[in-house]
Amino acid sequence: MKGVVLAGGTGSRLFPLTKITNKHLLPIYDKPMIYYPIRTLVDAGIKDILIVTGGKNAGDFLRLLANGKEFGLSHLDYTYQEGEGGIADALDLAEHFADGSRICVILGDNIIEAGIRDAVDAFRRQERGARILLKEVEDAERFGVAEISGDHIVGIEEKPRRPKSNLAVTGIYMYDETVFEKIKRLVPSNRGELEITDVNNAYIADGTMTFSYLKGWWTDAGTFDSLLRAGNLVSQSAAKRERDLAAVAKGEAHGV
Ligand code: G1P
Repeated sequence: MKGVVLAGGTGSRLFPLTKITNKHLLPIYDKPMIYYPIRTLVDAGIKDILIVTGGKNAGDFLRLLANGKEFGLSHLDYTYQEGEGGIADALDLAEHFADGSRICVILGDNIIEAGIRDAVDAFRRQERGARILLKEVEDAERFGVAEISGDHIVGIEEKPRRPKSNLAVTGIYMYDETVFEKIKRLVPSNRGELEITDVNNAYIADGTMTFSYLKGWWTDAGTFDSLLRAGNLVSQSAAKRERDLAAVAKGEAHGV
């Protein structure tokens, strides 16, 4: 499976932080935001990765990431989104890169605690279709929200005023090769963008959408509050890891 990180957009909700740089280059605790989604893919065993970016600072991604050596990679692919066509429009640029393979797509501002390897493996075993990752949240109206019936997903609403569940659709999506024909049939939403939720609803209409629940914490980082939350969650996890390591070392020193 190949991986796609979507890192375009103007980041207008973070103005003026994004006036002179791309949202995905902003710091989350001790690393640039885009490091986290790349690490998520690499840790799930996905090594063939495309970065989709845009705007005035696209060249900075190349300078920052180069060929992906920091992630143990020897190559990264890059492509450029012109204009502001939405998430599905950005994903359409990955068709050439995917070249008939399945893809795991992650939004560049989605940061998670645990890995996604189980879900990726489940999708590898799935005959066709798509798989998304859901997470219980308290502010579902900020996200795509899934409606579940039994063990089936029956629909997704994008930022509904009255959410039908507390299950947010996280920005991690796995698709088979039909995703690009689905994107080509989309029409722009009220905000003038091609919506990823409409792609997912096309798979639901086909009866080929499955889902997994994401373990650990999850956050996006596209608003001031979620950007701060992301930094705090990452720093708390780092501190916990340090404490756990120290406890193990102390145990070893005492022959435990
Ligand atoms: C996008 C998607 C939404 C999803 C969210 C996850 O929202 O449209 O369905 O729940 O990412 O981060 P946006 O970040 O564009 O508001």
